[in-house]
Formats: sequence, structure tokens, C-alpha cells
Amino acid sequence: MTSREFDLGKERLLRVGVIGAGVMGFNHGRVLAGLPGIELVGIVDPLLDHRDHAANVIGCPTFARLDELCAAGVEAVTIAAPTHLHHEIALDCIARGIHVLVEKPVASTVQQGREIVAAAHRANVTLMVGHVERFNPAVVAIKKAIAGEDILSIGITRVGPFPPRMSNVGVVIDLAVHDIDLIRWFTDSDIVQVQPQLSSAVAEREDIALLQFRTASGVLAHINTNWLTPFKARNVTIATRGKYVQGDLLTRQVTECFGFQPDGSYSMRHLPVGHDEPLRAELIAFTDAVRNRKVPPVTGEEGVASLEIAIKCLEPLPADQSADPRKGTLRVAS
Ligand SMILES: NC(=O)c1ccc[n+]([C@@H]2O[C@H](COP(=O)([O-])OP(=O)(O)OC[C@H]3O[C@@H](n4cnc5c(N)ncnc54)[C@H](O)[C@@H]3O)[C@@H](O)[C@H]2O)c1
Repeated sequence: MTSREFDLGKERLLRVGVIGAGVMGFNHGRVLAGLPGIELVGIVDPLLDHRDHAANVIGCPTFARLDELCAAGVEAVTIAAPTHLHHEIALDCIARGIHVLVEKPVASTVQQGREIVAAAHRANVTLMVGHVERFNPAVVAIKKAIAGEDILSIGITRVGPFPPRMSNVGVVIDLAVHDIDLIRWFTDSDIVQVQPQLSSAVAEREDIALLQFRTASGVLAHINTNWLTPFKARNVTIATRGKYVQGDLLTRQVTECFGFQPDGSYSMRHLPVGHDEPLRAELIAFTDAVRNRKVPPVTGEEGVASLEIAIKCLEPLPADQSADPRKGTLRVAS
């Protein structure tokens, strides 16, 4: 059954499935099972252990193959399978007329990401990318605080210990892509220059990255990310002409300094921050976009644009620059 065979009326339950029952997919299932207006049709995973865990804890049907979930009838799915499978699975679902939310990063390559976006347009299905940090209430409060401000610079720190299971990507694709998306969103602008510094202290891929950017609107931004810090930290600071905003994305404390005086004094206040679980807010936004045929808050194009910048940070340096680090590493985004 395809989505077109359903009448997307507002009163009845929206039939949603989850693809992948690993760390993220399990959480998608847990949240969707508790959302009003949603029927969690089931979770697909080839691994019996992961299916059993989802069935026991969430209490939903599980399937070993995507075909079985589709046969049960789904209008929308969230794809939380490993990133290298996003392209194949998303194209399969889109071809069946199913609306999709794809976890971040949208795909392994920009070309694959663009193919997913083009297929969703052709099939007229909703495509959203799971940049969940946009739904962190602290990030929402920061975005509100800088509305209408002339942003000058952004600094983001996202550090922590090595993940328990090493995937085949480094910190740039795994972590920095969240913050590349935030920089693009905070500034409503594209990143036009990247200056990356990467190092592999312990892992095969980069495990330390210091990334500098310039946006088309002239904002300077940097990301400090690594897997070598013994504790997790996620902080954002934004300087505008009129304010200095600081947010801790873990404790969700957001403060702003304002009213700068010629004598150097200023005022400071804590900003109100909501309590939503980010994933819950993200999945509500996705299902709302599906039901009401709205543009989702994180489009496929935005997901591809952030992936493109992350991949640009990983491109090998031109030979003359890598030979002489003093020549710098400026790269102009296409
Ligand atoms: N938004 C975020 O903050 C965030 C955080 C972590 C992971 N992610 C993303 O979520 C995705 C999954 O990451 P994870 O950490 O949950 O990985 P994971 O390894 O814990 O889970 C992946 C699951 O997919 C299953 N799988 C493999 N092939 C499949 C297939 N053909 N069909 C269905 N399921 C299949 C695996 O058996 C496994 O259970 C990745 O794209 C990752 O980048 C996003």
C-alpha cells in the first residue's frame, strides 16, 4: 500500500514506521509510540537482537525486511539505518510514495543526497533530514535571541569521549555536521569559505577538528570538536553588534549580555528555555509536515548543503599548501 492510497485526513492516525532499531532508531520508535495521532506500524531491522529489544521495550511490531513494513501499510518512515544505507533505503521508500525523514547526515556523498532530494521532488513526498539539534530548546532560545540582530561571529564547541562503537566516519561527519547546520540556520546564510584543521590523534579518521568558516552574509564562525575530551560539552556563543549570547546545549542554560555602555558595563539576563525532548519536537514537526503537506523545518536541500560543507572540510589540501602550512588552507565552497 502506498501513501497515495490513504486519505491523509486530520482526524485519523498517521501510519509511521521506523527503519533501523539501533541507538537512534530505537529512540525514534520510543518517541513515535507515545505521540498522539500516530500509529507506530513497526520497526525494521535485520538484527534479531535489536528487533527483540524494540518489541520488548516499545511493544510494537518488528520486521526483518523493509518489504514487510511496507506490506503492513505505512505513509511515512524515519530512516535510522547506518548512513551508507540512507541512499538506497530512501530511494526505495520514495519510489513507493512514502514520506521520509532521513537521519543526519542525509547520505554518504553529496551526489547521493542530491539524488534523494530529486526523487522526493519527483514523487511529491515530504523529505526531512534529522538535524535534531535545531529542536534543542536551548538552540531554539538562542535563535530567538538573535532574531533581527546583526550577527558578527559564532563559536561552537562539541567535544566528548570516543563513542562506544566506532563507525566508519570521523568527527567532522559525525559531530561537526550538526554545527555546520546550526551555523547555516542561525545566520540564514550559506557557508562560502572553509578553513579546516584536522588531526587523527588516536582513531584512523580525524578525531580532532578545528573548523573556521565565513558565511555569504559575512559572519565568521568556528567549530571546535573532538573525541578526546573526557566529558561531553556542547556550547554556543554568538556575538552580534548589540548582544553576546551564550548557550549550554546540555544544561540548557542560555544567557545574553546586552546594553553595552561606553564605560564597558553591560546588562545580563538568563533567557527562558523550553523543556521539549528534541527528538519528540523533531518527529512532531515531521509528522505535521506530512499531514499538512507543509515544507518541513529541515529540508533535504539543507541536509545536502550541510553535508557538502562537511565533506569540503575533509578534502585533501592542494600539494603546495600541505607542504607549507603557513600558506593556509582557505577553501571556497562551490
Ligand atoms: N541526530 C543525531 O543526533 C544522531 C545521533 C546518532 C546517530 N545518528 C544517525 O542515525 C543513523 C543510525 O545511527 P545509530 O547510531 O543508531 O547506528 P546503530 O548502528 O546503533 O543502528 C543502526 C541499525 O540499523 C540496522 N540496519 C542495518 N541495515 C539495515 C537495513 N537494511 N534496514 C534496516 N535496518 C538496518 C542495524 O542492524 C542497526 O540496528 C546514522 O545515520 C547516524 O548518523 C544521528
